Amino acid sequence: KVYTDYFFDEPAFNTHDGGYVPLVRPEVDEQPLNIPSVLSPDKETDTDMYYTVIAQAGETQFLPGAKTKTWGYNANYLGQTIIFKKGKHIHVTLKNELPELTTFHWHGLNVPGPIIDGGCHAPVYPGESSEIEFDCDQPAATLWLHAHPCPSTAQHVWKGLATGVVVQDDVEAALPFPRNYGVDDIPVILQDRKFHDDNQFDYMADYDPDGVQGPTPVINGTINPYFDVTTQQVRLRLLDGANRREWRLHFSDDLEFTQIASDGGVLPEPVTFTHLMLTCAERAEIIVDFGNYKPGDEVTLYSDDIAILTFKIHEFASNPLNLPDHLVDVPDPEVTPNSQTHKVVMSGMDEEVALNGRKFDMQRIDDRQQLGNVEVWDITNTNDMDGGMLHPYHMHGTQFKIISRNGHAPYPNEMGLKDTVSVNPGEEVKIKVWFNHTGVFMNHCHIIEHEDGGMMAQFEIFDPDHPKTYKLMDMDTL
Ligand code: C2O
Ligand code: CU
Ligand code: CU
Repeated sequence: KVYTDYFFDEPAFNTHDGGYVPLVRPEVDEQPLNIPSVLSPDKETDTDMYYTVIAQAGETQFLPGAKTKTWGYNANYLGQTIIFKKGKHIHVTLKNELPELTTFHWHGLNVPGPIIDGGCHAPVYPGESSEIEFDCDQPAATLWLHAHPCPSTAQHVWKGLATGVVVQDDVEAALPFPRNYGVDDIPVILQDRKFHDDNQFDYMADYDPDGVQGPTPVINGTINPYFDVTTQQVRLRLLDGANRREWRLHFSDDLEFTQIASDGGVLPEPVTFTHLMLTCAERAEIIVDFGNYKPGDEVTLYSDDIAILTFKIHEFASNPLNLPDHLVDVPDPEVTPNSQTHKVVMSGMDEEVALNGRKFDMQRIDDRQQLGNVEVWDITNTNDMDGGMLHPYHMHGTQFKIISRNGHAPYPNEMGLKDTVSVNPGEEVKIKVWFNHTGVFMNHCHIIEHEDGGMMAQFEIFDPDHPKTYKLMDMDTL
């Protein structure tokens, strides 16, 4: 079966927003797609990996003429790809070389909160560094690192503080997937930006409380990119790293592609599409088979009707895709009997956005769940004005399973682990949530301006045998 639609409610697509900024293909020469280098560990032993991640300021040549002032992780813009191996104990030195405080949030990583998780309670002040360590104990997946200082997450990400994080394990390594990084296994970070005078970003000039957008597609930090295809199969680790934009992806010739992984790792079964929509913070790993093309051909990846990435076909050895029907067993634990159902209501637009009718408060814990329990969280989106809007709902510290959308089965590519689920207007999405670690964590809409605007809450995962108290920052101490 080949799926040919985007599943989500068309009237809620961002194209219907009053403030929608359509993409425009920039009139500059094609550039080779930037492939972020892999961050070298400072040290690696049989049991441990050591990294240093530096948030730094720099300049990036996006366009002809002036360079753009940008931020990045061990790079001028975005960052180097960070690889964690399941089963290892990871040590990371977080260094802030920026002129203001930032935080280092591991989006999708199951680690204790709130300090290791890196949300707003874990500031690293300018010129300072801090050390974290944790066990990497989750399945292979494409995750990401981004800044999360409240309420300026959106500005930090807009300047470039986001990068790919890859978890590797033996289960994924045994599957017949392309995994030659940079050759047939590439990160594809989808963003949009606006360039002002002298090619600079001007976040405040572009500000929109429903999410900042720009007309220029910027893919892995590259404008008008192409990628040289030298293998029949190419695996794309797609990440919607935009502040607000939804990406409705399809290839020229309606070329089919196969999704093999979602946010939290490999899907139980591969799913074949011609069209795929990603909302903010979601990831999808897809394999594209270029077997019907010959050297000199070009295949274009579009979002809606704008070309965002060109694949230039070169000579390659025949290597037809041959995936098993069943890829991995995805954990699906039973809901803990008599546990409560948590309710989350996402409402409002613009400055009115709220979660359960309230704005985020760094010192208020909004919900609690006992460590070891598997509980149902019931997420609704009450927006209904003019078709309403989609809100991508994200939880820190967990990879969850989607139970249902308005009582129906989740979409076919939602059968694996997720940390972000987009909720249609008027929809109720039930998810099954469990945690490996205690802590205070955040849950929010991942349209980053909604999150900064207060469409966010926090919850505590507690262990009754080891009660903890947390020192929670407040906005004024930042
Ligand atoms: Cu991508 Cu609160 O996170
Ligand atoms: Cu997160
Ligand atoms: Cu939202």
